Amino acid sequence: MDAKIAVLAGDGIGPEIVEQAVKVLEAIGKKFNHHFHFTNAPVGASAIDKTGNPFPDDTYQLCMNSDAVLFGAIGDPKYDNDPKAKVRPEQGLLAMRKKLGLYANIRPVSTFPSLLHKSPLRRDLVEGADFVVIRELTGGIYFGEPRGRSEDQDTAYDTLIYTREEIRRITKLAFEYAEKRNKRLTVVDKANVLASSRLWRETVQEMVPDYKDIEVDYMFVDNAAMQIIQWPKKFDVMVTENMFGDILSDEASVITGSLGLLPSASVGIHTSVFEPIHGSYPQAAGKDIANPLATVLSAAMLLELALDLTDEAAAVRHLVDRSLEAGVVTEDITQGKAYKTSEVGDWLAANL
Ligand code: IPM
Ligand code: MG
Repeated sequence: MDAKIAVLAGDGIGPEIVEQAVKVLEAIGKKFNHHFHFTNAPVGASAIDKTGNPFPDDTYQLCMNSDAVLFGAIGDPKYDNDPKAKVRPEQGLLAMRKKLGLYANIRPVSTFPSLLHKSPLRRDLVEGADFVVIRELTGGIYFGEPRGRSEDQDTAYDTLIYTREEIRRITKLAFEYAEKRNKRLTVVDKANVLASSRLWRETVQEMVPDYKDIEVDYMFVDNAAMQIIQWPKKFDVMVTENMFGDILSDEASVITGSLGLLPSASVGIHTSVFEPIHGSYPQAAGKDIANPLATVLSAAMLLELALDLTDEAAAVRHLVDRSLEAGVVTEDITQGKAYKTSEVGDWLAANL
C-alpha cells in the first residue's frame, strides 16, 4: 500500500520520539512492502516561533491531505507561567482537534508485566487491568461559548455545552468499542449537578436498546476517579465528556506504571491523529533519554486504525514487548543499563 503520513513532531521531546516511530514504520514498510511517505510540519510552540501560529494553515492542509497524522507533543514552559500570553501552544492542539473534527480520543490503558513495579498501586490491584477511556474531544467546556472576562476584568466564565448529536456520535463509538471488547460500558458524568450531564445520560439511555448485549452503568465523575484507583480491573470501556476525560485519562494512565508506554488515537471526521499520551517533557528535550515506546505504540494504532494494517500493528506491538523483555529500554523504566532514545529506535528497526 501507499500511504501519506503527516509528521507533526511538535515541542520538547516530540522530535526525538517521533523520529524513532518513523524508523519503525519505515522498517514495517520494508518488511511488508508498503510505501509510507512522510512529510514534516510544524505545530505548537515551535510553530509559533516559526510562523506566529501554533497550527499553521499549511500544517492543516497537510493533515487534510494525508492518510494519518503522527504527532509528538506540544507545550513549552515559557508559556506555562505566563497567563497573559496572547498565543499559546495548546491552542494549536485545540485548533487541530476542531478543524480535523477529532471528536473522539481513545486511550487504551493496559499493563506490562515488566513495569508493574512502577505502579503507584499494589501489584494485585493493577495486574491484568485493561480498559479504554474514550473522551469526547471537540465539545464541552474546552470550546463552549461564551467564554471570557467581564468588562471590569473581575469575573471570568467558561461554558460547558453539549448537543444531543455530539453525545450520540461519541457514545455510538464507545458502544462499538464495547462490542469488540468485553461488552461493558461505563458512562461517566455529573448528572446530579450538571444539566449537560443529564442530557448526556438521557441520550445514552435512548441508545441502550440498540445495544442489548452491552452492560451499561453510569457513574458520577468523582466516584469514577476513586474507583479507577480502587478497582481498575472492573472497567472495560469508559466514555465521558471532554474535561472529565482529560482528568480521568491522565489518572488512568499512571496506575499501570507505564506512562511512557501508553499510546492514543484521536479520530473523527477527517484524518486521524496518533500520539503518545505523555507530554512534551521539556526537561529531557534534546538529551536523547526520553522513552519512545508510547510513540511507537501510537504508530501501531495508526497502522491498525488509519490504514487497516492489523498484522503490521501486531508486529509493532510484539516488537515493543521484545524490547521490554530484552531490557532495551530508556532510563525511566530500566532496571539495568539505560539505552538512549535513538538506540531503542535503532534496535526496534533492526529487530523487526
Ligand atoms: C491532553 C492535554 C491537552 C488537553 C492540553 C495540552 C490542552 O492535557 O491532550 O490531554 O487538555 O486536552
Ligand atoms: Mg490532558
